[in-house]
Amino acid sequence: MASLMDRYPGIDDLERRASKRIPFFAWEYLASGTGDESSVRRNRTSLTDIVLRQEFLKGMLKPNTETTLFGRTYASPIGIAPVGMTGLIWPGADTALAKAAADRNIPHTLSTVATTAPEVIGPLTQGNGWFQLYPPRDPEMRADILGRVRDSGYETLVVTADIPAPSRRERQRKAQIRVPPSIGPTLVAQAAIHPAWAMGTVRNGLPRFKMLEKYVDRATMRQTAGFVGASLGGTLSWDYMSQVRDLWDGPLVIKGILDPADAQRCVDIGMDGVQISNHGGRQLEAALGAAEALPAVVDQVGGKIKVLFDSGIRGGADVARAMALGADFVFCGRAFMFGLGALGDAGAGHAFDVLHDGLVNVMHQTGCASLDELPSRLVPTTPSVA
Ligand SMILES: Cc1cc2nc3c(=O)[nH]c(=O)nc-3n(C[C@H](O)[C@H](O)[C@H](O)COP(=O)(O)O)c2cc1C
Repeated sequence: MASLMDRYPGIDDLERRASKRIPFFAWEYLASGTGDESSVRRNRTSLTDIVLRQEFLKGMLKPNTETTLFGRTYASPIGIAPVGMTGLIWPGADTALAKAAADRNIPHTLSTVATTAPEVIGPLTQGNGWFQLYPPRDPEMRADILGRVRDSGYETLVVTADIPAPSRRERQRKAQIRVPPSIGPTLVAQAAIHPAWAMGTVRNGLPRFKMLEKYVDRATMRQTAGFVGASLGGTLSWDYMSQVRDLWDGPLVIKGILDPADAQRCVDIGMDGVQISNHGGRQLEAALGAAEALPAVVDQVGGKIKVLFDSGIRGGADVARAMALGADFVFCGRAFMFGLGALGDAGAGHAFDVLHDGLVNVMHQTGCASLDELPSRLVPTTPSVA
């Protein structure tokens, strides 16, 4: 019997299988971008355009991928990005992701709009949990959420900045994604032909925004969903972030920054890190590819605060490319969800193994014993346009 790695050696192998096992409406939610999806493509081309120089005759080389970030040492500079409505994409996703993060010793970021509460997920991560906040407008609710998150064992907080308003996401509209999914004939028909997803959903129950339920009177997902739109986001400002800085005494990261001037303001107000991201191409089709934005941010704030990166990573070579551009750590959203969709619970760990093995291999091919050497392998090229 061929090993998992022989059968699914790439993230694209997991993506193909996942696309067959996840119902259409949930697949459209996971895989789509916004508009004509040019920023999804730019995320890919801005990475694949990057070429690395090779150095040979280095004798026995043992690449070291261990990375210390915010006082914790991880096995590899690869983390799990926050994903919302997780249980809709794959039943039990939050639990599987958290356990994989603990097992592989990498960070797992739980979204405010994930479908399992931090009280459940925090302990499963064994200290590797980060929490992502969509900023609540009500200060009392904000304080309560931060207290719950801290009590659940989270030290690192990530605040997402790049949703000033919902994006149009045309593919999701056409797939008639409802929050919550309405149990009409279309959904039942789509779910019925995806038995692993359907049985998992029966076992786990229909997904609900478990973090937020306590703030609405009656905790149905439909009410919570309306409440999410009305209560979170849309008002984030530098003043708001300074308040969060005062409230949170652990490492604090702003996610979704692409502009060097914004990154500098993150330094000025005392952030510990900035996560370069265009939300996986889900907000603005005219956005820079995330890897296009990375070098200028690294020039501006690299060395002062940590520069994290996501959007478009689909293999170990992409991780190496982002590190070569100066990222301190890399996160993936869809790659881990493709793993879960393809292989169930074991898929999150396998997605990591694919990314990590790929990174180690690139370090061998380029003669890098440590991650610090990757920037010296960067070959300047002219990026193509998506
Ligand atoms: C289905 C889906 C849901 C997402 N939900 C959130 C979220 O709740 N909070 C957030 O900060 N980012 C969210 N993101 C963005 C990811 O954290 C990350 O920026 C993006 O997936 C990176 O691009 P990649 O999918 O190409 O790796 C989501 C992305 C996807 C694909």
